[in-house]
Amino acid sequence: MKMRITTKIKQLLILSASLLTLSATAKEDVVDISVDITKPGSELNKNIYGQFMEHLGRGIYEGIWVGKNSFIPNKEGYRLDVLQALKDLQVPLLRWPGGCFADEYHWQDGIGPRESRPKTVNSNWGGVIEDNAFGTHEFFALAEMLGAETYVNGNLGTGTAREMAEWLHYMTSDADTTLVAQRRANGHPKPFKVDYFAIGNEAWGCGGNMTPDYYSDLFKQYAGFLKAPTDNFPKIIASGGTDTQTIWTETLLEKVKPSWSLRMDAISHHYYTLPTGKWDVKGSATGFSEQEWFSTLYNTLKIEDFIQANVAIMDKFDPEKKIGFYVDEWGTWYDVDKGTNPGFLYQQNTLRDAVLTGLNIHIFNRYADRVQMTNIAQMVNVLQAMILTDKEKMVLTPTYYAFKMHIPFQDAVSLPVSLSATPRYQFDDESIPALSASAAKAKDGNTYLSLVNTSVSNEMMLKLQNIKQAEGWMLTGDKMDTHNTFEQPNNIAPTMFIAAVSEGKTTITIPAKSLIVLNLGKL
Ligand code: AHR
Repeated sequence: MKMRITTKIKQLLILSASLLTLSATAKEDVVDISVDITKPGSELNKNIYGQFMEHLGRGIYEGIWVGKNSFIPNKEGYRLDVLQALKDLQVPLLRWPGGCFADEYHWQDGIGPRESRPKTVNSNWGGVIEDNAFGTHEFFALAEMLGAETYVNGNLGTGTAREMAEWLHYMTSDADTTLVAQRRANGHPKPFKVDYFAIGNEAWGCGGNMTPDYYSDLFKQYAGFLKAPTDNFPKIIASGGTDTQTIWTETLLEKVKPSWSLRMDAISHHYYTLPTGKWDVKGSATGFSEQEWFSTLYNTLKIEDFIQANVAIMDKFDPEKKIGFYVDEWGTWYDVDKGTNPGFLYQQNTLRDAVLTGLNIHIFNRYADRVQMTNIAQMVNVLQAMILTDKEKMVLTPTYYAFKMHIPFQDAVSLPVSLSATPRYQFDDESIPALSASAAKAKDGNTYLSLVNTSVSNEMMLKLQNIKQAEGWMLTGDKMDTHNTFEQPNNIAPTMFIAAVSEGKTTITIPAKSLIVLNLGKL
């Protein structure tokens, strides 16, 4: 989405933005919004915009990896359309191989000649055959093609400390060991760059049904055996809690005293947004009511309380903020699309998901001094995906566009935003903020402002001052569930948003149910 706007288009857009403004003037109060460039906050680690890819359904097989002999156009087995879309998205970080899958994954199954790799059962996800065609080398090759950092999730549940230590050695070492010789023979003479390594996943559930105490002891045992060259030592992640839980953070911080020989660089946390809040009937991805639009956004906003509660504990134990709080799984989880394998977690993705993405990004940005990584679940064909595929067809989802619009926020410096009023979106007897905002000074020197209007029917007028320009992208749609399909892949995509600025001021109208990212210029 590079801005290439001719003067004529620009004039037309300014005119239409002004007309939009006029139509709203009578209806709504104007909110003054200002970005304070004199008080830079935390750096927004680019990995806040990280992705998660698990051996689950068509997330990797078909979604990314089709094999060299596929009729789907590919480069060395990676499908070309998805590869290009991910490059355009500037994916900063990939987490792999799970999820629940990680705790049943034996890395040795995924190396060496593909035809002799063992076939196993993916018991977590549909009981399908896993032929291990996509393994360690394939993962790192993908990360390299995308220029992404790497996050490998180790197997604590069914693997041994030796197996985990050997995997890290295989990936990172340059010593003349048999394992390293094996890696070289498998086509990678140089060590892989492992940026992050996790010891288990969801230890409270699919990762082994452990108590926080038991996991903390195991963490110490396994972490103590992880060896890698100093200049290629990954950040070590401990598996934390979910939803409201703080006991995992608390127990880990009490029991694990990180040192040079026992690293614990971060604690992870998971939170999935369910429209109904219930796992048996979660709610539909499309065709939902306003009640479910509202409850989905209401439920997603709870993540701020969960982060706050965990961060408060971390601040007590680790006031210097050396240990990160990584939300390494988040996003929407709906009932699977009708007719699809329930174990594949395939769901459509609508404007609601994009608006929700904006809200989550704003929250993550607010806690960026601790939340230095998040991974949306999952990148392709699974849960809140960026990309959906159907054999050779591919569509980009509203969530893809939400991420793309926020590229300037990667490694930017957050800036405080203040609002003269805090309009609410009321539904029945509950309400949520109607307006959410986040701003940052990007690496290109420009200040960017991200805005979300959560209301289904009310547009909103915003007055901006001390800016140079207000140009960017808007994502909205007629319906709450506006989405792209394989038949109509361009139903929803960002449109240019340009407002006329005079004497450093402008008044803009942001439509109901919209996400907007504006470049305010070099302030
Ligand atoms: O993302 C799907 C699953 O959700 C992951 O495998 C697991 O970690 C979580 O429960």
